[in-house]
Amino acid sequence: MAKKHTTMQNNLPILIFATNNQHKVAEIQSVAGGYFNIITLKAAGIDIDIPEPYDTLEANATEKSSIIFKMTGQNVFSEDTGLEVPALNGEPGVKSARYAGEGRDFQANIDKLLLNLEGKPNRGAQFRTIVSLILDGKEYLFEGICKGKITEDQKGLQGFGYDPIFIPAGSDKTFAEMTMDEKNSFSHRKKAISGLIAFLGK
Ligand code: IMP
Repeated sequence: MAKKHTTMQNNLPILIFATNNQHKVAEIQSVAGGYFNIITLKAAGIDIDIPEPYDTLEANATEKSSIIFKMTGQNVFSEDTGLEVPALNGEPGVKSARYAGEGRDFQANIDKLLLNLEGKPNRGAQFRTIVSLILDGKEYLFEGICKGKITEDQKGLQGFGYDPIFIPAGSDKTFAEMTMDEKNSFSHRKKAISGLIAFLGK
């Protein structure tokens, strides 16, 4: 049985974040402060592997927030992110987590992407995030895009996923060479959450 979170802290809205990815929690927590309080799934007493069964980011984000809303009845948000590479017809896209197989192995995904891009002149790419917010039982979607390019070699140790091979436009560093604040100044996830924050402020 999930714990209920019906009280307000600091007079700010309380939202459950429907993810088990602690990197995402840390990134969003660093921008949410002052706007809303995040309850992690762990803190809500929920221990499930949330499925991502659909072939769009929007449908997967909706699925994640809906599952947790049905379990708790609480206000909740989720996000789904994909790395979209035009030279690979938009891949890995919605399949970014499992690009190299069900193991969801970050290094194997990077190796596969670099191999598939070998010899291709266009190394442009974008991260796209869809945030699904369920507030008082109604769903709202927010999008964030970060354009950039894929490096030839991986660099940096911060972050997660494809961060070591992605340089956002306007920088010469990969996301994995940046502090969280630097990454947030460019990031798709920050942009999508900024939409949610603006909406909550209305
Ligand atoms: P998810 O399905 O939204 O959990 O994310 C799909 C996959 O995209 C993750 O497993 C990561 O490999 C990758 N990904 C998502 N966000 C980022 C990011 O900010 N940096 C690098 N990779 C990311």
